[in-house]
Amino acid sequence: MKTVVLGVTASIAAYKSLELTRELVKRNIKIIPILTPEAKHFVTPLSLESLASHKTYSDFFTENESIIHITIMNEADLVAIIPATANFIGKLAHGIVDNLLLGIVFASDKPVLIAPAMNKRMWQNPILSENVKKLKKLGYKFVGPTHGSLACKEEGIGRLEEIDIIVEEIQTIIEDKKDLKGKKFLITLGRTKEYLDPVRYISNDSSGRFGLEIAKVARRRGAEVSIIAGYTDIKIPSLFPCKRVNNTQEMEKETLKSLKNANIVIMNAACSDFTPKNVSKDKIKKDKGDLTVSLKRTKDILSLIKTKRKKQLIVGFSLDTKDTLKSAEKKMKEKGVDIMVANPAITVGRENVKMIILRKGKSAQRFNEMLKSTAAEKIIDTVVSVVQKKNI
Ligand SMILES: Cc1cc2nc3c(=O)[nH]c(=O)nc-3n(C[C@H](O)[C@H](O)[C@H](O)COP(=O)(O)O)c2cc1C
Repeated sequence: MKTVVLGVTASIAAYKSLELTRELVKRNIKIIPILTPEAKHFVTPLSLESLASHKTYSDFFTENESIIHITIMNEADLVAIIPATANFIGKLAHGIVDNLLLGIVFASDKPVLIAPAMNKRMWQNPILSENVKKLKKLGYKFVGPTHGSLACKEEGIGRLEEIDIIVEEIQTIIEDKKDLKGKKFLITLGRTKEYLDPVRYISNDSSGRFGLEIAKVARRRGAEVSIIAGYTDIKIPSLFPCKRVNNTQEMEKETLKSLKNANIVIMNAACSDFTPKNVSKDKIKKDKGDLTVSLKRTKDILSLIKTKRKKQLIVGFSLDTKDTLKSAEKKMKEKGVDIMVANPAITVGRENVKMIILRKGKSAQRFNEMLKSTAAEKIIDTVVSVVQKKNI
């Protein structure tokens, strides 16, 4: 289990540290909460320690334990200051150590992540810019701030970065395995829509969740990841360069265009296999009774990749209502992919998946039902072993 020392300073955004604590604990990360004395005006030690299931520390001298800043720092894999005030950043940049949190950060030989949050003019103040520049040069990592509505009712930069992005940055820093460093991934995800008229379409229930979990694991392990996304039920964090597409034809065009820049291509998008032969410019009227729609086959993107690929490793996904394994084996052979992930139709749009991983020349690996985030790790483990074997 990894340990994050979570330092919270006296910003109005301090309440978001509670949500962050929940998210990190959910991911099996141990949190040691530290509040600056001023931050206690914004969040109570009790709220933080209830969510973290760990005592909250605040003061250098009121604790019973001696040399507390060193003991805490030694336990950490990462010290994260979320949110960080202008005051905290300024003191750190100038070597002032007048509270416990500054003591921990000053004594730290662990990575330190800082997420500033403040009014836009405070953030744009040249004194602060100098302090941030100095800390970045010294190796301190920063995440955000971002644009948006600020607590002072203004719009602009200074808002604490979104919690999902902070969580992802923390997970990336504490991930020990960096076995995909230097590798470029192209991941397609989500569903396409094939319109019959301006308001009706053929599609499916794919949420994009599985593809995003794979993208996150690959990034944590050092890869550069680009995404091509159809429609999704989930938010794609701005950490990933992402191109949006609507239908299978657009997905085909974008995928083939981006293919040459990738070492590993993960084709997780659920593209429609059929599209209407004719698309009505206006909404089709219902008063003429039953309607017969003619459909034509869309191009099969995996088969197109087969003819255009160079040395890329290709991962395909196969989904069926019956004979899942047999059908995946057939597709794997026909489309020439290196790894095929077979999953039954019931897993579409869900949090969990029951998958089989097929790899050329190896027997199929069956997995019990598991979270898509856990399954993503298994897929990436398989990708890494093929990458190493084939020297991709
Ligand atoms: C209501 C209120 C909100 C504040 N919000 C912020 C903020 O978002 N960012 C910031 O840098 N300072 C903010 N401040 C100023 C800090 O609280 C002040 O600089 C404090 O001394 C910082 O203490 P610390 O850095 O030791 O936690 C705010 C102050 C008040 C009264």
